[in-house]
Amino acid sequence: MTNIAKGLEGVLFTETKLTFINGTEGILTHLGIPIQEWAENSTFEELSLALLEGHLPSAAELAHFDAQLRANRAVPQQLLDVIAAYPADVNPMQALRSAVSHLALFDPQAEETGEAARREISVRLIARMATLIAAINRSQLGLPPVAPRPDLTHAGNFLYMLKGEEPTPEQAKLFDIALVLHVDHGMNASTFTAIATASTLSDQYSTAVSAIGALKGPLHGGANEAVMDMLDEIGTPDRAAAFITAKLDAKEKIMGVGHRVYKYFDPRSQVLRDYAAHVAEKEGKSLYYQILEVIEATVIERLSSRGIYPNVDFYSGTVYSDLGIAKEYFTPIFALARISGWCASVNEYERDNRLLRPDAVYSGAVDAHYVQLQNRK
Ligand code: COA
Repeated sequence: MTNIAKGLEGVLFTETKLTFINGTEGILTHLGIPIQEWAENSTFEELSLALLEGHLPSAAELAHFDAQLRANRAVPQQLLDVIAAYPADVNPMQALRSAVSHLALFDPQAEETGEAARREISVRLIARMATLIAAINRSQLGLPPVAPRPDLTHAGNFLYMLKGEEPTPEQAKLFDIALVLHVDHGMNASTFTAIATASTLSDQYSTAVSAIGALKGPLHGGANEAVMDMLDEIGTPDRAAAFITAKLDAKEKIMGVGHRVYKYFDPRSQVLRDYAAHVAEKEGKSLYYQILEVIEATVIERLSSRGIYPNVDFYSGTVYSDLGIAKEYFTPIFALARISGWCASVNEYERDNRLLRPDAVYSGAVDAHYVQLQNRK
């Protein structure tokens, strides 16, 4: 019997120097540097550049990249008009997938696929993803888009374009950390999809559109939205312990808990948890945060002995909600961060490209013959 690697688990198809994960020990590194150090010292802009270039940038390289991002934030008015014409009640990921596809139509370089062109387009994709998501959100609320501000950071400008008012430095920093934590995560489904598309030598926008399509599925993005549904259902902190206990006794899964790779604390979840706790201490604990604290304690008590811990989605939903972001936008925000990882992974693979073309074991009919339509039952 031929072995089939269902879900491609354990199949190695390429080498990467970008991201390393050890799920048993809860380790995640980019360029060998622990995610905790990136979150503590770096920014979304710097990690994006580091992954695109494969090394920690110099101050001059970072300043240049940052300036490029800031200069490339605006999208054509025609595209904003197209977004405004989308039906208001569509899934924001559907709108984002369409908007990125439309974005390609306005980029004269879109069809170029060499290394230099992919690198240049990556900058525009990273910069403009934020503008598109903010414009979609506002359009769905019946509001006009807010033009990007070049004096703000990527995270700060996104929150500004979303709300129309400048975030506090703490809010911008918290959101930046959340972005840093989501930039890349090894050979996940959307990154693999992006690479599969690029391996045909298709263009950079098509890789992003393919990846957004993969991220949209509930088995990939979207778990943090489910966490917020659960928090809404629980309602108040005093109900949380009994709610979770009843679910676990009924052998039901708790959203935002457990991970296919991590059988220990997801290091990203701890960073986000610690920073959220820091903000809560400074600005007061939100209702969501209070419920989360109780769930966390109950889950750790009941499940940690089995290697099941709260994952990054457990905390990110609360962080985003406390920043005033609607839960339907959590997956687009995942894309906002992951676009850098997609671009970096595609660009790395393309340097030594080989068309992806796996195989399947044939288990269908043999020796069959065509039957004329009128003779079929
Ligand atoms: N709550 C309660 N029990 C859980 C659990 C959770 N969130 N996640 C796993 N378990 C238990 C299962 O019930 C199962 O128990 P059993 O052996 O008694 O049947 C055991 O752990 C293994 O579960 P399984 O689903 O096979 O583990 P996995 O490693 O394939 O699953 C997930 C990983 C992410 C699919 C799973 O943990 C899950 O569904 N989590 C909730 C959704 C979520 O937060 N997803 C985002 C992931 S980033």
